[in-house]
Amino acid sequence: MAFADYQNEIYFDGLRGVVPRLPMSYAELEPLAQAAMPPSVRSYVAGGAGDEQTQRANATAFGEWGLMPRMLVGASERDLSVELFGLRLPSPLFMAPVGVLGLCAQGGHGDLAAARAAARTGVPMVASTLTVDPMEEVAAEFGDTPGFFQLYPPTDRELTQSLVRRAEAAGFRGIVVTLDTWVTGWRPRDLAVSNFPQLRGHCLANYTSDPVFRALLAQSPEDDPAAAVLRWAQLFGNPLTWDDLPWLRSLTDLPLILKGICHPDDARRAKDAGVDGIYCSNHGGRQANGGLPALHCLPGVVEAADGLPVLFDSGVRSGADVVKALALGASAVGVGRPYAYGLALGGADGIVHVLRSLLAEADLLMAVDGYPTLADLTPDALRRLR
Ligand code: FNR
Repeated sequence: MAFADYQNEIYFDGLRGVVPRLPMSYAELEPLAQAAMPPSVRSYVAGGAGDEQTQRANATAFGEWGLMPRMLVGASERDLSVELFGLRLPSPLFMAPVGVLGLCAQGGHGDLAAARAAARTGVPMVASTLTVDPMEEVAAEFGDTPGFFQLYPPTDRELTQSLVRRAEAAGFRGIVVTLDTWVTGWRPRDLAVSNFPQLRGHCLANYTSDPVFRALLAQSPEDDPAAAVLRWAQLFGNPLTWDDLPWLRSLTDLPLILKGICHPDDARRAKDAGVDGIYCSNHGGRQANGGLPALHCLPGVVEAADGLPVLFDSGVRSGADVVKALALGASAVGVGRPYAYGLALGGADGIVHVLRSLLAEADLLMAVDGYPTLADLTPDALRRLR
């Protein structure tokens, strides 16, 4: 089935008087989803660092590019499939790791809902370290869709090793190490409501279920939850340096992907250290304000990666954005806040709707503009608007 078929489904449903229950545009989705969230979750998901200029710029940067239409191509069939880390994926779209996803769902199990949406769509989920349900239970819902584990390496190396071993045993197909969040950025919206979910004991299941973490506690997390949170806070942020990279590499034979790389020199150095993929992202502008739109960093990272896969996220809001990131050299494109909002409004169905909408729009754009395969999407397909 082509991704574009979602459009036909919706129009044919309309003939029976059925119109979409969920918003068809991000502009409508965002406010409705935010209204459906409790205030503490809303500020955490919607907010970013500083006055959120970087967060906004991530999204508006896509508007600086336009796709040049090509005619008489006969792009009646498109192929969006990609080969990534030895896996054949139906599309280059994936769900970026979102730490409080669990709390975004009405029932409080959003990580499981996202995993089920991955199973239904073939869109892989990168599961955060910070989940409501332990990684083994998340992975059990993936169906035939491969999943990736996002690692915040704790300062305790044995605990880090334990998390990686568990991810391997649970069947994850790659480890994404996030480098830009060993300390939390200045987030006025969260500060205004003094809200940091993990300090309230949320989304720590991967720690509280871990034998190494439990062994570091005087009492079990069930008997003394406050002490477990305190221990977590002491262990969470690991200010890694390049000297730690050989150790990280030695932790697993799974594909190792570094998230948060924006400078070409960092991409080069990561490649030299033997990583399998570079993940260009500025964390959706949640960590550092006053920065560059991640999209501006993408071409330099792609060039420096020199053939190594480059994953990208930050600011993707539409199928057109997905196509533009691919044309600028991304091997795969991550969607972040939009699927968390789909979840808040409609559970797993809401995520499936957001993902299918993004894919249908991208697919139809490639049809209309005459770019039938991902190989046709090169920087030459784009023109700068300003
Ligand atoms: C994130 N992101 C994130 N990244 C990561 O590596 N581990 C994590 O646990 C989280 N947690 C998280 C929570 C929330 C609420 C958001 C919105 C984001 C960052 C995420 O992977 C991605 O980089 C951004 O979401 C991309 O920006 P946009 O497109 O969502 O604006």
